[in-house]
Order: sequence, then C-alpha cells, then structure tokens
Amino acid sequence: MRTSASEPAPSPITASPPKSVPSSVPQPVPDVLVVGGGLIGLVTAWRAAQQGLRTTVVDPAPGGGAAHVAAGMLAAVTELQYGEQTLLDLNLASADRYPAFVAELTDLTGLDTGYRRCGTLAVALDADDRAHLRDLHTFQTSLGLESQWLGGRDCRRLEPMLAPGVRGGLRVDGDHQVDPRRLAAALLRAAELAGVAFVRARAVRVEVTAGRATGVVLADGTVLGAGRTVLAAGSESARVAGLPPDVVPPVRPVKGQILRLRIPPGHAPFLSRTVRAVVRGSHVYLVPRENGELVLGATSEEFGWDTTVTAGGVYELLRDAHELVPGITELPLTETLAGLRPGSPDNAPLLGPTDVDGLLLATGHHRNGVLLTPVTGDVMAEVLTSADGELPPYATAFGAQRFARTRQGQPA
Ligand code: GLY
Repeated sequence: MRTSASEPAPSPITASPPKSVPSSVPQPVPDVLVVGGGLIGLVTAWRAAQQGLRTTVVDPAPGGGAAHVAAGMLAAVTELQYGEQTLLDLNLASADRYPAFVAELTDLTGLDTGYRRCGTLAVALDADDRAHLRDLHTFQTSLGLESQWLGGRDCRRLEPMLAPGVRGGLRVDGDHQVDPRRLAAALLRAAELAGVAFVRARAVRVEVTAGRATGVVLADGTVLGAGRTVLAAGSESARVAGLPPDVVPPVRPVKGQILRLRIPPGHAPFLSRTVRAVVRGSHVYLVPRENGELVLGATSEEFGWDTTVTAGGVYELLRDAHELVPGITELPLTETLAGLRPGSPDNAPLLGPTDVDGLLLATGHHRNGVLLTPVTGDVMAEVLTSADGELPPYATAFGAQRFARTRQGQPA
C-alpha cells in the first residue's frame, strides 16, 4: 500500500486515529511547501528542513492517509514484477537505507518505528502457484537477488502454522517490515523538531503565475505562497487543480482493503516472519508485528475514489488467508480499513522537477510507498538543494515528466 493525503476510510471496526499534534505557526513564505503529509510528504519535508530550507506541510491530517492503512512490508524481492528491474534498483536502494533511516528517526524522536528484520516466506498452495513461484525464483536469482527455494515440508518447519497443503516456497531473508503508523508518527515528530511548519488544511489548487508555481490555494480560499511547491498528495495528487494538462501527475487511486487481527497475550507464537502467497490470482499476505498485531492484506481494486470496506473484500481476504494459515480464524478481528495507493502508468514513482518552474512531484509510489520512503527523502533533498535542481543519477528514470515527454515524442 502507499502513502497518500487521503483520509482513511470509515471502518466498522476502527482503531484510534493518529494522535493529533499541535499546529506550529507556518512561516509566511517558506522555501518549500509540501502538499500532502503522508509518509512521502513528511520525509520530503523533514529532509528539506534538515538542509536548512524553511519548509511547510499542508495536510488536514498529517501522518494519516494510506500510512494508517498499509501493512508496511519492505518487499523489494518478493514483490518483484517482470519488467520492473529499474524500479527494483530503487526499491533495493531504499531497503538498504532502512536500518540507518529508522535509527536516525528513533535517535531524534525517541519513537520506535516497528522496523523488524523478520524476512519473508512466499508460498505456493497448488501446482500452478508452485510453477509461478519457481519462475519467479529463477528470475530473482538471474538478477543476483537472495532467495532460497524450499519444499513444502521445509516451509512448514519454518512456519508451523502453515497449511499442510503448502507445496513449496521462497525464503527471502532480506524482505523485512516496518509499522507505517509508527513510522508516520516518528516522521511527523522529526519534521516538527527540524522546524517544519504544519498547516492543517486541504490545498485545492496550485497557483501558477507566468509559468511559475508560486504556492497553493486552500479550500477556504487562503493563499499560501512558496519558493517551491512539492506535490506529494498520494492518490489525490492529480486532483489538485491549477496545473497544465501535461504536468498533472498521471496517478490514479488503487484501492486496498486490509484487516488487522490480534494474537492474544500468552498465545503460542503464530508466525515469525511475513508470509504471503498468490491465491486464485490475488495477493494475500500476513505481517506479524512484535506487539501481537497480525496485518492481513490486501485487495487491489480499481474503483476510483471508493474506500468502502466491503463484505466481499473481507470475505476474500479471510478465505485466502485461511487457506494459507488455517489457524487465523480463531483470532480476534480488530480492524478493517481501505486505503488508496497512487498507481502510476508504470507502477514507479514520479519524482523531481516538472515543466512548471518551482513545482516538483513526489507521488505515484503505488505498492511501494512505505519501502521507498527513505530513498524518496534523499532524492527530494538532493533535488531541492542541488544547483541545477535535477534528479541525482540514480533517480533519473523516475522523472516527474517522463510520461508527458513520451506523449510528445521526446526522450523521457
Ligand atoms: N505492497 C503491498 C500492497 O500494496 O498491498
């Protein structure tokens, strides 16, 4: 799942909302105005402020959005898709940054992010799944990725709660997890400590004057000026008005429904690592937290802005997860939620400068928003502080205008 500025969907079974943090007073004209206070907006603002840039974040509920919904898998290897090797490099670069990134956040804020080096087991339940996983394993190893094939018995030895019918799987010890809610809370605190100001309101329009972005207009008509504006509003990014058509980010909402179960205190250990599978063509994963939470996700639905939790979505997730780990049905179901991933045409993020002077994008992270948070912060800080304002070499494939350029027949 991903980061966005959208509100979490109302849920029949809800957890407490993210703690509200008192607003700080915004600078009159910040150097950098970040639209969106999800993980991507927060990390961009924090890193910008660390570079000495006066920075403001505009979001009605910073630290919420899709970070409140996402499971937090850091699954560069197990979520590898054919044709996405370029994205893989960025995913791996971000995964490598995670230990130092979360350590820095915890040192600065005293807050734990729930980063857990637990590894992942991707299993197959039938002959077709097994053949698919075998192919994926060949692909992973051809790229030099660490992934070990295990037979069904070895999978169950590793995770005894797995169904007896598991036919084999991939052990990927480098795919870990973080708790996105805790991560968002730590980023919010770190940003505040670095001097970032927060405007708890919705930006509805980017102001563009003589081809230059000069800030945003809020829902109540207030105008906020800025030296540079970064659009980091997740799936909402294309809904912010005022941009020329070729600069509107090509992002769309991709709905994910997710469940949270709780392992009761004193219950035998359930899973020691993330377990996932593709069941009847749908991804299902179970992410066990150290605090006893078991996150079960996720649907992937292209239904526009709908964030309803449906009986069908919950049924399918529980049915598929039950095939994988039958014991889940005895656990309390504590929460159901739906969020919106910001899908981009190639599933990769849109980063850096646009054809409107002073406007940058940090959006379109689709299924990888949590994973890509550290590297996105670094990329955006480099762009915002470099003399030429261009992307660093390792991120040039993710330029904000690459789709518009392709449409115009120019090199992306
Ligand atoms: N990366 C997990 C998801 O998007 O569901």
